[in-house]
Amino acid sequence: MSLLPPSFRSKYRHPDPANGVDEVVEFRAFTHGLQPETVPAMMEAFTEDWRRFGVDAWNEVPNHWRPDSDDRVGWWSLPTYLADEFVAPLLGVDPGTCILQPHVHWTVQCLLSAPEVAARGTEIVVTDGEFPSVLHSVQQWSDLIDVQPRIVPSQPDGRPDVDAILDAIGPDTAMTAISHVGFTTGALLPDDDVRALVRATHRHEGLFLLDGYHSASTMPLSLTDLDMDVFTGGLLKEASGSAGNAFVYLRDGLDITPRLTGWFGDADPFGFNTQPRPNDDVRRRFLGGTTSVASMYHAVEGVDILLDAGLENVREHSLALSSRAIEHAERLGLSLRSPRAEQQRSAMILIEVENAHALCEYLKTKGVYTDSRKDAYLRMAPFVWNTKAEVDRAFDIIGDAISNGEHLDAPILSTGGPVT
Ligand SMILES: Cc1ncc(COP(=O)(O)O)c(C=O)c1O
Repeated sequence: MSLLPPSFRSKYRHPDPANGVDEVVEFRAFTHGLQPETVPAMMEAFTEDWRRFGVDAWNEVPNHWRPDSDDRVGWWSLPTYLADEFVAPLLGVDPGTCILQPHVHWTVQCLLSAPEVAARGTEIVVTDGEFPSVLHSVQQWSDLIDVQPRIVPSQPDGRPDVDAILDAIGPDTAMTAISHVGFTTGALLPDDDVRALVRATHRHEGLFLLDGYHSASTMPLSLTDLDMDVFTGGLLKEASGSAGNAFVYLRDGLDITPRLTGWFGDADPFGFNTQPRPNDDVRRRFLGGTTSVASMYHAVEGVDILLDAGLENVREHSLALSSRAIEHAERLGLSLRSPRAEQQRSAMILIEVENAHALCEYLKTKGVYTDSRKDAYLRMAPFVWNTKAEVDRAFDIIGDAISNGEHLDAPILSTGGPVT
């Protein structure tokens, strides 16, 4: 399995080393990606566009994203322009089907506010392993609309119970909303399972929503082939787009009118009419009030890097490094909580270790950044900016720590709260 060249690292800006180590190894792509090297210039471009053009920037700014093209862009068009140029290829779908969103929470809230969802049935099928932006939203809306959550328990290892979800889908299903990768398990739902769930949902005329936060940007996707209705995710993590940048894909022809649509998504926003009118461009109906422009200047710099590398190569690199990490873990006698099989493996792996918090803190003192869950799992995602040598170095340290117990006395270095 081939790796991206070590020079790939230089496409990203790396954190400052601390605690006397020379270099930091960042394995937390599942939380917040490293900063692409072009981001400082893009943020400068934002401040300059604001200064130079002021209000007129809403209509036109230089096309920093495609400098060689004649496409005209303005702040008004950025949510759809950047989605067409960068997010659609990232998801392998046609232009015109995606739009930038502030976060997944907003997208799910918009969907739930649409009468076309409630018209399809009285239940929304989810598992207890969904991220709160889905799981909590479904429960909150059940107080407002005549649609109840049908929460399917996960298996003891935290992975979705596909048979139980299939059993739960039926004539009452308005929507099925499932994670493509479990955020606590790192388990990727294989295409055959997704296809079976979509087919069952469609048989009962329900909508299918896939939360692809941890799959998009890490592998090629086949949403059209999967007959997906709605796919959502964010650019914060492996896509290195930072906060404020998420997206939604809506199947071509899906007519949906979120009651949360704001004036930015109206058919005639500057008519300031007394009645709202749904935009003909369905994806724009997922806009609320004034969009947060600054975040869009750093949204797709990382996507550009990944597309340039090729998503097949990104996936190969990620699998090659996680395979090496798994081999090291097994050599040390550690078990894997996340799947070993490649077709079920995401970019992140979880390794079972005792005193995982202490080990995570100890690794930090050595410049190796991972995270830990429930004091029982070490979570890591060796990604495109990581090398084989970094994985080896991390496991040398883990091996030493486990054999001599040094991590149990490690100082606590974390300054912030928990990370997602
Ligand atoms: C599966 C999944 N969905 C969604 C999110 C983020 O949701 P939001 O964009 O609403 O913060 C995360 C964050 O870690 C996640 O793991």
